[in-house]
Amino acid sequence: MLKINNLHASVEDKDILKGINLQVNAGEVHAIMGPNGSGKSTLASVIAGKEEFEVTQGSVELDGEDLEDSAPEERAHKGIFMSFQYPVEIPGVSVTNFMKTAINESRKARGLEDMPANEMLKLIREKSEMLEIDRKFLSRSLNEGFSGGEKKRNEIFQMAMLEPKLAILDETDSGLDIDALRIVANGVNKLKSKDNAVIVITHYQRLLEYIVPDFVHVLHDGKIVKSGGKELAFQLEEKGYDWIKNEAVV
Ligand SMILES: Nc1ncnc2c1ncn2[C@@H]1O[C@H](COP(=O)(O)OP(=O)(O)OP(=O)(O)O)[C@@H](O)[C@H]1O
Ligand SMILES: [Mg+2]
Repeated sequence: MLKINNLHASVEDKDILKGINLQVNAGEVHAIMGPNGSGKSTLASVIAGKEEFEVTQGSVELDGEDLEDSAPEERAHKGIFMSFQYPVEIPGVSVTNFMKTAINESRKARGLEDMPANEMLKLIREKSEMLEIDRKFLSRSLNEGFSGGEKKRNEIFQMAMLEPKLAILDETDSGLDIDALRIVANGVNKLKSKDNAVIVITHYQRLLEYIVPDFVHVLHDGKIVKSGGKELAFQLEEKGYDWIKNEAVV
């Protein structure tokens, strides 16, 4: 599904990603870990096509198609969903209206008509119940005054509504209390299927107890320095990143 080949990317002439290779197949969950500033959010942004990052070498392919010339909206329409570490606030636009617009835009891009209102309501009800989201929450302005946990929960709601092919969750666990963490993780697990894939960026092994990854990758200084199964997350928790850094020096 996603194939990243020797990806190099920079921002303001500073090299951040220095040769990333990663393949994510349908049905897989990949976790990306690594110290602050190692390039995790940058990698997510580059996959999503954010324009402030310049790809200087290598490629990102989705289903065999090079995404180089696709704008972020096009990538979203192709089924890439990204939750942001720091989501934006949109005053005056409710959670529900934002979702309606997003869904209908994605349908339009695929040549479909707007989703009928009753169908939309049904979908909203179904997904908000699944994620235990309060009705009142849905009429609030997007992210305005949301607590950290509410923002994260809202992101998972967006993901549940859009049913993306590839979801990239950047530090969805930061600031979540234990109950919210479980709800978010359950949501992700319920949305998992053999046709979609998830990349979870996290600092903590805790989230990975709930969203069990098939693969764990450690990013350090813009490169994946170690990949393994879920046991790698346990080792990291125990030994810290120095262990990897020392191993990575050849
Ligand atoms: N827009 C930007 N302008 C300048 N430097 C940037 C920009 N975005 C990222 N960087 C730099 O790129 C490096 C990698 O940042 P990135 O946000 O990808 O790290 P991260 O692994 O997500 O870290 P964290 O764990 O703290 O979230 C950092 O040194 C950061 O300062
Ligand atoms: Mg980050």
